[in-house]
Amino acid sequence: MFRDDLLAEKVVLVTGGGSGLGLSMAKRFVSLGARVAITGRSEERLRGAAGEIDPSGERVLAVPCDVRDFAQVEAMAAAVVEKWGGVDVLVNNAAGNFLAATEDLSPNAFHAVVGTVLYGTFHATLAVGRSMIERGRGGSILNIATTYAWTGSAFVIPSAAAKAGVLAMTRSLAVEWATYGIRSNAIAPGPFPTEGAWKALMPTPELEAEARARIPMKRFGEHEELTNLAAFLVSDASPYINGECVTIDGGEWLASGGEFNGFTRMPREAVKGALRGMRKGKE
Ligand code: HXC
Repeated sequence: MFRDDLLAEKVVLVTGGGSGLGLSMAKRFVSLGARVAITGRSEERLRGAAGEIDPSGERVLAVPCDVRDFAQVEAMAAAVVEKWGGVDVLVNNAAGNFLAATEDLSPNAFHAVVGTVLYGTFHATLAVGRSMIERGRGGSILNIATTYAWTGSAFVIPSAAAKAGVLAMTRSLAVEWATYGIRSNAIAPGPFPTEGAWKALMPTPELEAEARARIPMKRFGEHEELTNLAAFLVSDASPYINGECVTIDGGEWLASGGEFNGFTRMPREAVKGALRGMRKGKE
């Protein structure tokens, strides 16, 4: 759907780029002409991912770091800048999450998730943003949020609190850094199957089926659908989109509200029959 040079000349840094949606985005960006740096905690995983992204190794750079530690993030960002002269696009994708009853959380469990999601996003934004400002060529920041950033969600409060912060940061910087030509946007994905998220968030096949049934489109997202959206938002095809959070969830979060949305889970003919009956009753 895009020209294959959509991201030519762009250097993109993807946090959490060694697996899951981060890896899928990295692959897509390279297929559209970008050079991509990936970062994450596991050097071995990054090495495997780099081989998948670009077997020639010319357009991929893997630099391990834990986004919770600003010193490591600064060093990682400096390594990318040294290799390729600067970063044009930062994708804050690294995340941690698990299902837990809030009363069973330890302060360190909260810290582990918020440290990765909120502090990690801030650390990469600060290190890369400073280098973008210094270079004076603008840039684009894309944060991966989630739909429960605005509704909140039971059993994932560290992630919900952190993602809400990420969304606030996205909108704040969209205004503050526009003067430097830096755009800030976010994507709020619903469920997209990945090994990490499924292990952490889908306890049983029954709950997976229930999760799928909750989505108006009756299916989970496909990685390509998200990577295409990400490519568009970070590219020069969307120069005036700034401060936006695009939801990509098959209508899932809206369906959980709405007084009468539950009717869609009944056979449509039964619903229509009931509605006709009500109308007749009034005549
Ligand atoms: C309660 C838990 C726990 C669990 C860990 N902890 N798992 N508490 N229930 N299931 C606690 C530990 O006991 C410890 O606290 C603290 O958290 C840190 O755990 P560690 O294992 O030492 O930390 P670490 O190795 O840093 O692991 C971080 C992590 C891990 C967040 C816990 O899950 C992770 O790195 N995940 C990355 C992959 C991932 O989760 N991806 C999915 C993202 S999906 P104590 O007090 O014992 O020391 C997503 C979007 C969802 O975010 C949107 C869906 C629609």
